[in-house]
Amino acid sequence: MSLKLFLLPGDGIGTEIMKEVEKLIAWLNGEQLTDFTTDSGLVGGCAYDAHGEAISEADMEKALAANAVIFGAVGGPRWDKVPYDKRPEAGLLRLRKDLGLFANLRPAICYPALADASSLKRELVEGLDILIVRELTGGVYFGEPKTITDLGNGQKRAIDTQVYETYEIDRIVRVACDLARTRNKKVHSADKKNVMKSGVLWDEVAQAVAKDYPDLEFHHILADNAAMQLVRNPKQFDVMVTDNLFGDILSDAAAMLTGSLGMLPSASLGAPDKATGKRKALYEPVHGSAPDIAGKGVANPIATIASFAMALRYSFGMIELADRVEAAISAVLDEGLRTGDIAQPNRKIVGTEEMGAAILRRLAA
Ligand code: IPM
Ligand code: MG
Repeated sequence: MSLKLFLLPGDGIGTEIMKEVEKLIAWLNGEQLTDFTTDSGLVGGCAYDAHGEAISEADMEKALAANAVIFGAVGGPRWDKVPYDKRPEAGLLRLRKDLGLFANLRPAICYPALADASSLKRELVEGLDILIVRELTGGVYFGEPKTITDLGNGQKRAIDTQVYETYEIDRIVRVACDLARTRNKKVHSADKKNVMKSGVLWDEVAQAVAKDYPDLEFHHILADNAAMQLVRNPKQFDVMVTDNLFGDILSDAAAMLTGSLGMLPSASLGAPDKATGKRKALYEPVHGSAPDIAGKGVANPIATIASFAMALRYSFGMIELADRVEAAISAVLDEGLRTGDIAQPNRKIVGTEEMGAAILRRLAA
């Protein structure tokens, strides 16, 4: 039976990098390695231009019906002035919320060929393999009230609400622990329990979950210290689990350790369906829409292609194929091909299409 992929390229470089994924899908289908059908829709600024919303109801329905959503990037200065609830990012947040994608997996892997592209010293990042597990449907991103009130005396008051319930913490820490079992069996749970009640509860629940995983090494870490340790000695980490906001920030820092934000894929997963065991899922690069280089054909498609490899792995159980795609990416980097964002001396700079084609060529070899 054919599997349904819903493609949402979005804005900026999103459309360029998604084309390379489409070529990969076509190749996989052509080789009869997979049987995917694809449909695509609009999200972000382009959806606002077309429908006056950051994502239309029709496209939301398609996203809900798909076996997996492959997402590009949203946003750009063109939409800086659109109403807050229709801004491009609102489309992404609605997808996360309505699809129930509470578990965001952000691996930060340093490809050997790129150890010198990192802003940290080679010895600190060579062989780095961290997985950040970010809670994605709760916390300050969605907590109510979320308001700006005019106090009438020339002052305003802004409120965002950080809120977590036990079940939300429990399920994300379990995802992290289950993944740690398939890796180096170490989990760091990051919060700010020294100043936040939500942090106190986070740690209480995380410690309780850890009791069910006696085979794992479990550590509590304050989120600010986690940021510091990430740039001091990142290889001490295996799996890090944290809330929505800290995860947003820590994953950007982790991304940079690998040489470029253009390298980092992510998977956002829902809870397994009780009847079928299938999870809703969305795969997206961690980088944004990069309006400054959009339309120039120079964007790095690796994070999006690697996100698609995560779809093969986590949505479709095609582990061997996922390994092959990741190995092809690594091989192309070893060959010396680089997009501008990961440029290095004596390496060949290529554009988006050339990079995509090189990965396909490696895959076919
Ligand atoms: C991310 C992004 C998003 C977030 C933005 C685009 C809303 O920074 O996926 O990390 O803050 O979650
Ligand atoms: Mg972010």
